[in-house]
Amino acid sequence: MFRTPTSPSSSSPHAPDGDAAIRSTDNDAALARLSAVQKHYLPDPYIRFFVPRAHLQPARPPLINVGTYVRSVAIDALVESFMGSADGSPVQIVSLGAGSDTRFWRIAAGEHAGRLAKYIEVDFPENTTKKAMAIKKNKDLAALVGEAKLVNGGMGLQSAMYHLLPADLRRPPAEALAALTSDIMSPSLPTLLLFECVLVYMTPAASSGLIQWFVDRFSAPDAAPLGGIVYEMFGLNDSFGTVMMSNLRVRNVTLPGAEPYPTVASLPARFAQHGFQHVGALTLKDIRQRYVEADELQRISQLEMLDEIEELELVLAHYAITWGVRTSGAPSPTWAGWSLKRQDQQEDED
Ligand SMILES: C[S@@+](CC[C@H](N)C(=O)[O-])C[C@H]1O[C@@H](n2cnc3c(N)ncnc32)[C@H](O)[C@@H]1O
Repeated sequence: MFRTPTSPSSSSPHAPDGDAAIRSTDNDAALARLSAVQKHYLPDPYIRFFVPRAHLQPARPPLINVGTYVRSVAIDALVESFMGSADGSPVQIVSLGAGSDTRFWRIAAGEHAGRLAKYIEVDFPENTTKKAMAIKKNKDLAALVGEAKLVNGGMGLQSAMYHLLPADLRRPPAEALAALTSDIMSPSLPTLLLFECVLVYMTPAASSGLIQWFVDRFSAPDAAPLGGIVYEMFGLNDSFGTVMMSNLRVRNVTLPGAEPYPTVASLPARFAQHGFQHVGALTLKDIRQRYVEADELQRISQLEMLDEIEELELVLAHYAITWGVRTSGAPSPTWAGWSLKRQDQQEDED
């Protein structure tokens, strides 16, 4: 998500005023993804089902499309590698602030579908209501979800594998995520938490409480590994960050979550402070330069004219992907290798 959010669209009966602007950041994320798909950066047959009048939406500038591409392939690679590291055990994925994300459908229709035990998505009730309706209305989405019932008065949806839950993640997790503990999420399955551009809208204390709540669920000696991926902006104490923050303030959005993370080196603490043993972080600038395969870089460079490489690199240097995995007991060699692979490492393994 490289765009500043749109203006608040409505006040909400479910959340404090001002949250409309935070919820609407999902429109920006979905439109950015749709644009990258329509311009052939990424394959995703599902995103158009979540964007009203998808065929009429204008394309995003090349810089946004490249950023969406880099972020998307890197997170896809980490998710796939997490699923592959689980020694054949099926995994659970919990996407917090999932918005209109299509990852569940892409996995469920892909070659790793058999490795997925549960996919749980959480967002504000207004966004989960829209998503539940879109799923119910569209036969391609509904087919992959399987037999499903609307829950929470239509704000949520449940099937054997897919769960959509309405919650404000700033509330105490024991209340906001109570539904997860009863029968949805099992601490005996390797579990990956996805935070794609969501924690930045919350205070560091609320984010920390949220991650710790999951850690507590997975802290028994026989608990399965718990992994996490965060994607968001950081290092906003320079002139780029000052402009971004002031643009957002006009739209009623603040980024309290960016404050503890002035540099890329500071990012892994997000997980390390909760006892995750194997942690790392990379900027999108680094990922584009050293982690995307050369033939892919060549392919996307031919899709559109991008003459402002310096501007692209400045923007990409302010977004990062951070990951971490926590195993009960001693650090595990299997999970120590869970990270993005550089181009030269990918070639060595082929
Ligand atoms: C920028 S969008 C990203 C959506 C999706 N993760 C993606 O990457 O496409 C941020 C999402 O986080 C959700 N979000 C932000 N704060 C939240 C909170 N306190 N509780 C629940 N959802 C929240 C917003 O409603 C929105 O859907």
